Order: sequence, then structure tokens, then C-alpha cells
Amino acid sequence: MLNHHKEDTIESILQEERVVSPSSNFSINAHIKSFQDYEKLYKKSILEPESFWENLAAKELHWFHKWDNVLEWNPPNSKWFVNGKLNITYNCIDRHLTPSRRNKPAIIWEGEPGDSRILTYENLYVEVCKFANILKQLKVTKGDCVAIYMPMIPEAIIAMLACARIGAVHAVVFGGFSAESLKGRLKDSQAKILVTADGGFRKDKIVPLKSQVDIALENNSSSIEKVIVVRRTEENITMRNGRDFWLHNLQQNISTDCPPEIMDSEDTLFILYTSGSTGKPKGVVHTIGGYSLYTHITTKWVFDLKDTDIYWCTADIGWITGHSYSVYGPLSNGATSLIYEGVPRPSNLGCFWNIIEKYGVNIFYTAPTAIRSFMKMGEDIPQKFDLSSLRLLGTVGEPINPEVWMWYYRIIGNEKCPIVDTWWQTETGGIIITSLPGAISSKPGSASLPFPGIIADVVDKCGNSVSRNTGGLLVIKNPWPSMLRTIYGDHQRFEKSYWKFLSDKSDKCMYSSGDSARRDTDGYFWILGRTDDVMNISGHRLGSMELESALVSHHTVNEASVVSVPHQIKGEDIYAFVTLNNSFKASDQLSNELKQHVTREIGAIARPATIQFTQELPKTRSGKIVRRFLRQIAAGQSIEGDKSTIVNPNVLNELEEQAKWLRNNNLYY
Ligand code: WTA
Repeated sequence: MLNHHKEDTIESILQEERVVSPSSNFSINAHIKSFQDYEKLYKKSILEPESFWENLAAKELHWFHKWDNVLEWNPPNSKWFVNGKLNITYNCIDRHLTPSRRNKPAIIWEGEPGDSRILTYENLYVEVCKFANILKQLKVTKGDCVAIYMPMIPEAIIAMLACARIGAVHAVVFGGFSAESLKGRLKDSQAKILVTADGGFRKDKIVPLKSQVDIALENNSSSIEKVIVVRRTEENITMRNGRDFWLHNLQQNISTDCPPEIMDSEDTLFILYTSGSTGKPKGVVHTIGGYSLYTHITTKWVFDLKDTDIYWCTADIGWITGHSYSVYGPLSNGATSLIYEGVPRPSNLGCFWNIIEKYGVNIFYTAPTAIRSFMKMGEDIPQKFDLSSLRLLGTVGEPINPEVWMWYYRIIGNEKCPIVDTWWQTETGGIIITSLPGAISSKPGSASLPFPGIIADVVDKCGNSVSRNTGGLLVIKNPWPSMLRTIYGDHQRFEKSYWKFLSDKSDKCMYSSGDSARRDTDGYFWILGRTDDVMNISGHRLGSMELESALVSHHTVNEASVVSVPHQIKGEDIYAFVTLNNSFKASDQLSNELKQHVTREIGAIARPATIQFTQELPKTRSGKIVRRFLRQIAAGQSIEGDKSTIVNPNVLNELEEQAKWLRNNNLYY
């Protein structure tokens, strides 16, 4: 009998009853056609994991040499397809150079100023080989690390693939990071070569990447020997003699053939830094074989990818979503992957919908933060465009509030596109919990069920499964092919950060995601937020997601972020930061109405003591709301911690001023 202590678990208070099923037409044509098919597949994957993965690896990928063992699992260390030899670029490019695919667009690229390029698989082959030969010429060899700090242009992807072609490890650093952040990552990764551009176009401005690079490389503090510079904006930049080289100069007289390096399944493919809520960024390490297979098969089944699809994932390649679902997963499947340099901006609010119309995009994958910003601008913007080519929508990155889900479903999907809400992390390499669009019905706000091969669970502090509809820690209980192998240069941190009950030496050892979740009676997973953001209100432990969703379900509210503040009697009290949809104004009356709304939706326990209206919430560069600083602001403490993860740190000062004003005017408590 399980014994649940209240302090171990999290209460779930939001009930969402809506269920949306795929049309029979969608299901008939899908790779996975019914819930029974999913269940069968899932059961097999859990009962006979090795044969499940082995069959897929043999069927879906090309190997130069077959593996000896499918899996060696010494928790928390795994080796997949041991001694198997492959090259991910062979799977992503060479094998598609068939008569029917060689002239198919691999990448459709749209620049922010409106320029565009299409690279067929044949073109991609040539460009990747040339770039790979340039790297070789610059003395990059197998195992060396190459840093990539680029705008979203085809050369960013070409550079990644060129590294993989010759067995170099890439470390992509998001182009929106500052010189300081770049410097730290360069140092940690010990990269030898840096690939960058003179700049990029973003929000009608030029992002001066090269000048950031110059600052990051001052005093020769990193191991970077050479810098390859791609011409994009044609702005004036300084080139340092002997260190900096224009790509177009290096490309002259370079061979267009470069045989793929034969790589071991467990060789490192890339390092990708994830900020972590505190402290030094972690260099998450992924290896080739397992990552190749897992991203390939999740892309195929979750996005129900067909040869004719135009597929668009809006993530920047600086994030894991860009790695797995703009580059490796789609290309491995021989798909057409659309890449866009820009983001929606005041001068072009409809740019996403314009691109969908222009290219007839069929599959569209984006983040809740983007969807909320579309809602704020109003539905008349997407409604000006023909979005009828869309057949499937996806979301990733944060819990999606049910109201936001419904808006996406109605306004963008015209009530005919299934939505896959995909839960996963940089560390997991690929999608872990999701619906499969032809087989699993969606419940708005739930990431649904585990992907085949994944044993996910919700546990208390002692590692015991909690009962249904009780919140706890979201864990994964078995190894999967694309799991992170280590934190670069710090295996101990890897063990400490992610693995629970490791020392027990029991099969209880499990991967800890750091998220909280609950499962409902159908086994569906509902992500409640980060465990760091759990609040304790009058002895009830509540996650941030449900309270925020209750606020967002009010028609005036666009985004909400809920934190707790210390309270003498209750222990903690609820403090909500709220942004409103355009055309609504903040007022005391609205504040009271929202408090009542939350009380009606989920009960008096969840009623916020304070509502602070704001124009903007602090977010990471990948669009996640950062609650850590909001907690300090709400409690009237000075803001402490690394602010470099926030896109617009000024927001913090504004929020601090407003919070002071609220307190001074006794609008607090
Ligand atoms: C959050 C992004 C709810 C979660 C692929 C996770 C989500 C973190 C979802 C990882 C989702 C991602 N529903 N929350 N569908 N997807 N998250 O490393 O907190 O940038 O731990 O990887 O994003 O973010 P990361």
C-alpha cells in the first residue's frame, strides 16, 4: 500500500473535461491509425524493448556496420546500438539522393526581409560537403568541437551537418545570446572553430553577431583558433587577419564531395547548453546512434509525416527543438523542412500565416508563448490568410493553457487539425509524452500519453507512484535511445541533477525531469509546472499551471504567471502577474472580477491575494516565463540571480516599481 504524505505530493484542482478526437479521415491515413494500434505498439515496446528498438533501427536507418548489442544499461549510463557504425548525415542526405527525392526541397528558407531560398536534397549534399571540406582544411578532425553562433539561415544547418559529416561535435549557441553568454559556452565546450555571420535580421533590426563574437574573443580567453563568417547583412564588420575568414572566400576551389566519416553509435553528435534555473549552463551531451533513431521515429509518428508534406517547426536551431525537429528528424525522414529567419513583429504581425499560405504548409509546430502572442493581437490577423493547407498542429516548450489550446484549434486549425502537445526537454533529445495524432484523442492542456518505449510516471519524494489525479514529480523509469549521456565535463553534475535513487542500486533508479505533473484516470499526463515553482497555500501544495490556466480562461486575460509570497498565517499567499488581451484595460474592478473568476473556476483556495497587471512578463529567450524573479518582486525583495537569461531585463525593474506602488497604496493583502 502506498503511503502519501501531503508534503510529498501536489494537489490538482483544475478539471478540464473537453476531449477532441481526430477525424476518421485523418486516422485512416495516419502512420498509427487507432488507439488499439498505439496500445499494441506501446505494450510491445515495454515488454520487449530491445527487439522493439532493434527492429526500428534496422528498418528506419542506414548503418555501415550493425551493432553487437542493442543496449548496455548501467544506470545512469546507457550505450545504445553498441559498436554500430553510422553517420547521421548519410541518413539525413545521401540516402535521399534517389531519382524521386534528389530534387525535392530539403529546406525551404524564408528570410525576414522577404528573400528566400530553396535547397533540394542534391543542393544540400553539395553545400554540406563543401562546408565539411572547409572544416577539414582548417584542421578540424573527428571529436573536435565547433561552435555555431548564427542567425536562422541555411548556412546554420549546413554548418551543423558539415560537423556531423566529418565527426566533429557541434555546439550551437542561440544567436540572441550576448557576448558574455557566448564566451562562457565557448570556454566550457573548448571549441576550436566558431561559425558566425556578419549579422542577421530580426524584428526589422540587424543583430550584430560578429561584433558580439569580437567581444567574446577579446583577450584570447577561449580555445577558438579560427572564425568562419557567413555574409548575410552586408554590414561593415571588422575581420581579424589570420583568425577570421569569409565563408565565400573559403569556398573557392573546394571539392563538392566529402565522404561521411564512419562514426560509432556512441560518439558525441553535439553539446547543447541549457540554462538551468540557477548556476552555470549545463552542456547536455547527445550521441549519434540513439539520437538518430529517436528523432527519426518521433518525427515520423508524432507529426505523421508523409513524403508530400511541407513541415514547419518555428524553433530556432539554437534550441533542442530546432536541432531535433527542424534539422535531424525531418531530414532523416526525407521531408521538406521550412526555416524562417524572423519572428512576428509590429510591421508584420501576420508573417507566420503569410508563410503558411505562400508555401502551403501542412504541419506547423510552435510554442505556447507564440500562440498567446497571436491571441493578444486578435484573431482577425490570421483570418486574413488562407490556412487551409494545414492538417496538423503542434506545441512545445511550456504547458499550454486549455483556452490557448482551444484558440489554436479553432482559429489556426479551423477545427480540423489535431494538435499534438509534446512534452520533452533538451535532456531527453526527443518527444517523450504526446498524443499520436491519428490514434490518441487530445485533452486541451494535457500532453497525453508516453511515446512507445517510454515508461513515464508521477512519483512522490520517496519514488513511489502517486495515485491518479494526485500531483508529484514527473520521472522516466527506463532508458531510451536519445537520453542525454552526460553533462559535458561534469559527469557528477549529471548524476546529481537528474538521477534519483541511484545509490540504491535498485531498479528504482529513475530520471527526474524537474517538472511536476499528475495523471488522470485515463493515464493522461498533465504537466503542472516546474517543481521549483510549486506553492504551499494553507498546507496545500499547488503547481503554477492550473492557477495560471484559470486566469487565462477569463476572456480579458492573455498571459498569467502565478507565484507565492510569504504570509504570516497561511504560510504563503498567491500573487498573480497578468497581461491583458489588446482592448482591455487594468482596473480595480477587473482585479476583483478575476479573483472571483478564479474562485468560481477552481475554488477559494486558489484566489489570488494580489493581482498585478503588466504589459509584459519576464521570459527566457526561448519564451518560457521565469517565475524565480517574479517571486522576489512579489515578496518585495531585491532581485537577485543571473538576469542574463531574460530577453528584456528592463521588465523586471518596471515590475518592481509597480509592485512597490501597489504595496504603498495598500493594494497588497
Ligand atoms: C517545459 C524543450 C508542458 C517543461 C523541448 C520542460 C513543457 C522544459 C512542454 C524543457 C509541454 C516543454 N508541456 N511543459 N508540452 N514541453 N515543457 O529543455 O518544463 O527547452 O522541463 O526543451 O519545458 O525545456 P527545454
